[in-house]
Amino acid sequence: MSSARIEIAASILNADLGALRDAVQAAEAAGVDRIHLDIMDGHFVPNLTFGLATVESLRSATGLPFDAHLMILSPGLWATRYVDAGCESVAIHVEAPDQHRATLDAIRDSGGRAGLAPDPETPIESLGPFRNQLDFALVMTVKSGFGGQPYRPEAAQRIGEIRALVGERDGHRLPIHVDGGINATTARDAAEVGADLLVVGSALFRDQGPDGMSGAVRAIRESATR
Ligand code: DX5
Ligand code: ZN
Repeated sequence: MSSARIEIAASILNADLGALRDAVQAAEAAGVDRIHLDIMDGHFVPNLTFGLATVESLRSATGLPFDAHLMILSPGLWATRYVDAGCESVAIHVEAPDQHRATLDAIRDSGGRAGLAPDPETPIESLGPFRNQLDFALVMTVKSGFGGQPYRPEAAQRIGEIRALVGERDGHRLPIHVDGGINATTARDAAEVGADLLVVGSALFRDQGPDGMSGAVRAIRESATR
């Protein structure tokens, strides 16, 4: 087992949406590595969160890298604008009815890292055609749309299959990000099946436990240490 340090990305989806700047800075102080921004349009998923203007406003709140997770119908229209707004990576959903080849290339051409996210019910073969255009895969262990859902181990088990399908190229290992239901218990499972980065929302902003957010970050990191 490698001793690779797993990265933790704080999803602010379950933070106080009226105080996102404070949430980002609290997550940074608690020791997370990145900020995960769940962009939802109310059409691709039955939920509406925040968009480009919010991301642009939050950019000055921290030096941490931003990862945009676009749960929107037209990622092709928006993806590069999130790179321009200061997102280091942009993940789009393979289920979205769009031209993923052009969008993934556009994200990379604008200097961002391009990712593709399959929901738990989506056949992983759908990622295959885009394998040479990916910088990472975002594996959903919950149905995209809401935070606070329980982790689905059967979805995490697909990490190995996704890595086999798209994850090894020219000897390079494609990073696998895992999103949904991650806490100090489920982090170990996700790490053991190959996660390189864990997205954590509720376990930081809602169910922190007695030692607050930094205690939660420590517990998740310890649990995920391989
Ligand atoms: C779902 C979102 C959430 C979020 C993490 O569409 O992508 O998974 O990032 O939320 P928790 O950690 O509360 O499951
Ligand atoms: Zn997400």
